[in-house]
Amino acid sequence: MKRRMLCLLVLLCMLLSGCAASRQEEDKGAVVVGFSQLGSESSWRIGNTASMEKAARAHGYGLMLDNANQKQERQISAIRSFIAYQVDVIALSPIVETGWDNVLREAKDAGIPVILTDRMIDTADDSLYTVYIGADFLQEGRRAGEYLLKKADAMGADHLNVVEISGTIDSTPMRERQQGFMQVIDGDPRFTVLESVSGDFLRSKGEECARYLLEKYGADGIDVIYSHNDGMTLGALDVLDAAGIRPGEDVVIISVDGEQAAVDALKAGRVNCIVECTPDLGDDVMDMVEALTQGKAVPKAMHPEETVFTEFDDLSQIGPRGY
Ligand code: AHR
Repeated sequence: MKRRMLCLLVLLCMLLSGCAASRQEEDKGAVVVGFSQLGSESSWRIGNTASMEKAARAHGYGLMLDNANQKQERQISAIRSFIAYQVDVIALSPIVETGWDNVLREAKDAGIPVILTDRMIDTADDSLYTVYIGADFLQEGRRAGEYLLKKADAMGADHLNVVEISGTIDSTPMRERQQGFMQVIDGDPRFTVLESVSGDFLRSKGEECARYLLEKYGADGIDVIYSHNDGMTLGALDVLDAAGIRPGEDVVIISVDGEQAAVDALKAGRVNCIVECTPDLGDDVMDMVEALTQGKAVPKAMHPEETVFTEFDDLSQIGPRGY
């Protein structure tokens, strides 16, 4: 116990001071995971960090956690610290897809396996990471599109104007949620996508985007808002409320994640559809760490099971979301 406390203290010291303590000076027996978390922009993200911490504790692993506050450069520095410390495995949740090759090559050269968690990277060399553990974002986008088809049928609508509030540009969930959605609705003459604006997965920016879109297209000009996460959706609901527009009735609201506040809004009829994206990736990541440290063969990608909650379902079946 004392050894573990000492180890965690040194990890903390290293992160705070940037000191170059070597792993050799530490407890060689304990598995140490370096986790570069991209930020804390949403309830989803906070739930995801908690899931990683809980799972690391349950496995008895030391966790070097660095929260990059939405800055890719900080993620890159964190990975370099993990390499200097000679952690056993690096878990990286990359804020954007591009710009990782150099630092991941350094990790590879140091013999440290990298688990990409939550988001993917764009690279021509897939030996730079060992496995991706996270959502199938393309499928999430398709689920949003499929709900809209069903809704349009139910409304008997012959034309609907859609606006999109997207996540962080160049991030996997932004790109694929958009692509999957368009794959389903593109070519259906009932839908016009008026505009896509980025709210960066932030509630405050979701609010700004909704205000901008309302000013530009007017209350009667928007029939559907497709928002890439619940935080931005909740921000948009505030704007609609203030404008006297009834979300869920006057405007169809499609969201992604499934955080408690959004599920409550769905149950209250203020949101029409939530495509689930689970933040509970910690157990899968730490199980993977175990497999890797035992030299087992692992798959290249793993997706958690996810679902979709809509106004057409029995919503009483949705349990507490925990985030
Ligand atoms: O990458 C997952 C996305 O990032 C979640 O949908 C969102 O809430 C978070 O910020």
